[in-house]
Formats: sequence, structure tokens, C-alpha cells
Amino acid sequence: MIYRFLTLDSTMTEAQRLAAEGCPHLTAVVAEEQTAGRGRHGRAWHSARGEGLYVTVVLRLDLGPEDLPAITLALGLATAAAITDVADVVCDLRWPNDVLVNGKKCAGVLTELHGGAILAGIGVNANQISFPEDLADIATSLRIATGKPASLDVLLASLLARVDEITGLLQQQGREPVLRLFEQASSYVRGKRVTVESPSEQVVGVTEGLDASGFLWLRRDDGERITIRAGGVRPAASLCS
Ligand code: BTN
Repeated sequence: MIYRFLTLDSTMTEAQRLAAEGCPHLTAVVAEEQTAGRGRHGRAWHSARGEGLYVTVVLRLDLGPEDLPAITLALGLATAAAITDVADVVCDLRWPNDVLVNGKKCAGVLTELHGGAILAGIGVNANQISFPEDLADIATSLRIATGKPASLDVLLASLLARVDEITGLLQQQGREPVLRLFEQASSYVRGKRVTVESPSEQVVGVTEGLDASGFLWLRRDDGERITIRAGGVRPAASLCS
């Protein structure tokens, strides 16, 4: 079932309400615009009418909280696959859940656990023709990448099918195949020099793959390997001159 709204504060809030009422797996809440769209780390997600796809999918999976990191990676994979289906562009994935096109962010995923339900909030930059100066270097849209407008309905249909597919894989075969797919699809998981930003610190190092949960291994410059469980990554300057 797809619930469509013209305006919501956030599709996350409406999906949380529906989940509390017991709505089924793959119930989707879509808004044409959000007045208080939410991104990761408490950031706002700009959600002007018609410019993006703003959807939250309620997932009811027989998985535990230990599977949450892999679910987040799976949702990034589903979003990237839907974008490729619809716009025929190649995506990169920046751990844990940014979808990049031509090196710039085109979509993001926000995963929340409420009671027994997982809320998969997905925002795709679809029809923006430009971004404000502070975002122009880091954000893109399908329209900018392809030169053509994107149909939000076609994108939504593909996204729901891809979410169903990848969460089914996770449910039936466990984390391992999903982590392998993510490693294949992401240039960030292995051999990339990155800065990791978390609320408490900034760490620089080279990525060395995913652990069995889906957390990111990072080899710091002092040689110690650490596990990154939260935060975001961005490319860091290379050590070589
Ligand atoms: C990120 O910071 O990259 C995650 C962005 C997630 C945005 C989507 S838009 C639909 C859903 N509703 C929200 O308020 N946020 C998510």
C-alpha cells in the first residue's frame, strides 16, 4: 500500500504512526514536499515540491538490531539499483548510505527502528536543475546527470521493487551476500583514503573492507586498524605528493 501526501512535515513521522498501528511490510509513505525533512545526524533534508522523491518504507523483517547496519547498506544498494534502472546512470555508494552519481550525492537513506518495524527513509534528488552554491560541489540530481526530467512515479515503483528484492535476500540468506554486493558497488569500502567525521572526533585513514556486521574497517596512519560504527566518510587528501 502506498500512502500519498501533498505535504508532510516528514514521511518518517507518518510512517512511524502507521507502523504503530500495525501496517504491513512494504507500506510506503510518499510526500510531494516535506516541511521538516530529516537527514542523518540531525541535519535537515531539503524537500521542495517536485524536486525529489521523499519516501519512507515500513519494513517488517525477521531480523535483529545486530542486522541494522546491513539493512542500511542494503537500502543504499536498492536505491542505487533503482536509480540505474530509471536513469541509466552508474552509482557509487559511500559508506554507510550515500548514493553518489558522478562523485556527488544524489540520494540518502535514513534508517530508524521503531518497535518491531524498520523505517527506511529514502530521499532522491531527481529534478533539481541546480543547487545552492554551498551544495553545488557535493550534490547532484538525476536531471543534472542525464539532462532529462525524471518521473518520480517510475522511480518509486522501481525503488519499492528493489527494496523488496534486497531485503528478501537479507532475510533469506543473511548479511554476507548483501555485504559482498556493497563491497562490489562501493569505491569507498577498500583502499580509499578518507576522513571519518563523527560527533566526537575526526579520523583519517585508508579503508580496509567491512566487518561481519557491515561496519567499516579503517587503517589509521599510525598503523592501528579501527572499526567505524557511526559517522560519515569523505575523501581525504592522499599522503603521496
Ligand atoms: C541523509 O542524510 O543522507 C538521509 C536523508 C534521508 C531523507 C529522506 S526523504 C524521505 C524521508 N523523510 C525524511 O524526513 N527523511 C527521509
